[in-house]
Amino acid sequence: MKVGVARESAAGERRVALVPEALGKLAAVGLEILVEAGAGAGAAIPDQAFTDAGARIVSTDALYAESEVILRVQKPTTAEVARLRSGQAVVGLLQPLLDPALMGTLAAAGVTSVSLDAIPRTLSRAQTMDALSSQANVGGYKAVLIAANTYGRYFPLLTTAAGTAKPANVLILGIGVAGLQAIGTAKRLGAVVSAYDVRPETAEQAESLGAKFVKLKTSIDATGAGGYARVLTPEEQAAQQAELNGVIANQDIVITTAQIPGRKPPVLVTADAVRGMRSGSVIVDMAASALGGNCELSQAGLTITTDNGVVIVSPENLPASMPSSASQFYARNISNLLLNMVKGGVLALDFEEEVTKATVITHGGAVVSEAVAKLLMPAGGNA
Ligand code: NAI
Repeated sequence: MKVGVARESAAGERRVALVPEALGKLAAVGLEILVEAGAGAGAAIPDQAFTDAGARIVSTDALYAESEVILRVQKPTTAEVARLRSGQAVVGLLQPLLDPALMGTLAAAGVTSVSLDAIPRTLSRAQTMDALSSQANVGGYKAVLIAANTYGRYFPLLTTAAGTAKPANVLILGIGVAGLQAIGTAKRLGAVVSAYDVRPETAEQAESLGAKFVKLKTSIDATGAGGYARVLTPEEQAAQQAELNGVIANQDIVITTAQIPGRKPPVLVTADAVRGMRSGSVIVDMAASALGGNCELSQAGLTITTDNGVVIVSPENLPASMPSSASQFYARNISNLLLNMVKGGVLALDFEEEVTKATVITHGGAVVSEAVAKLLMPAGGNA
């Protein structure tokens, strides 16, 4: 079976779905790899490196004409969708819940779409395929570097002949994958790190990395399904915000990573809390998107400075800013997912198998994911 690696065309995207090191395992099960010319350029991987690893470099036309499966990072653009044909499969971070209309289009075109966003995170067998985690890891690391780069002072305690620098106080809100990596990175830079989450089991994880867990007087246990948190009640949210305001006022850096999949990010840093921070403090809001962010004042993709001198950075695609490592991890995830679906050298989807059931969004001309199909129903429809 021919498997194509697309060149990403989304603005600012520098990752690539496969790296040369990942090709061996795919070749071993009889897959032939075609790579769109220049696909690795953003991640500093020349075409020759793919050729040396056994792939064939092809034109865009040949990629879409010959490949039975196309691997990519981001969802295809309209022009790329128009190139896909019935019976072909596309695998990537397709964001089916955020863009159900695209899934409808792919289904109507007879394209099988498989989304890495939908990997069941709590299934241990699927951990090697969990691209959201591998990319959030990169994001958490990079968020701390951005904070350190933006902050006008040292992170570590520093004693020199010219004076002493106090260590920075860093608060991480949301102790999931990105939050844990942010804690570890801020600690390694010498900051005094504290962290907070609404899932009590995260306290031990944060402490094992050297952070102080912030325990609010209002005890909230919002453990939800699948390793995620549940949405707080308005009362819980008000109590949380009021108590966090006091904690945030003592911070030099706040990095926010709180999310509940498919929901608007919870507001943890209110405009009031920002007003209470010292001039020169930095907030990096990883959760910021068009839906809003964890900070009430965040503007996705922008860096703003408030009237009281607080810098709020809301980066949109941190993994793409570290494309070589991000691609290396992503390639491992997507290859493992592909290998899970290939039998005897061809795509053989077994809908009884958990990962396939969760990740295949469209197949055989239909939207097979119930969650996505529901979003595509006309309002009020229940068929
Ligand atoms: P995750 O699901 O592993 O962690 C999120 C954490 O937030 C969970 O531990 C959850 O318990 C916590 N949380 C939920 N509601 C909360 C509340 N009200 N108060 C405190 N904590 C709360 O998510 P992951 O993978 O760590 O990603 C974190 C965020 O970063 C997501 O929004 C993700 O989309 C974003 N992200 C952004 C990137 C960027 O380039 N800006 C790159 C990668 C991820």
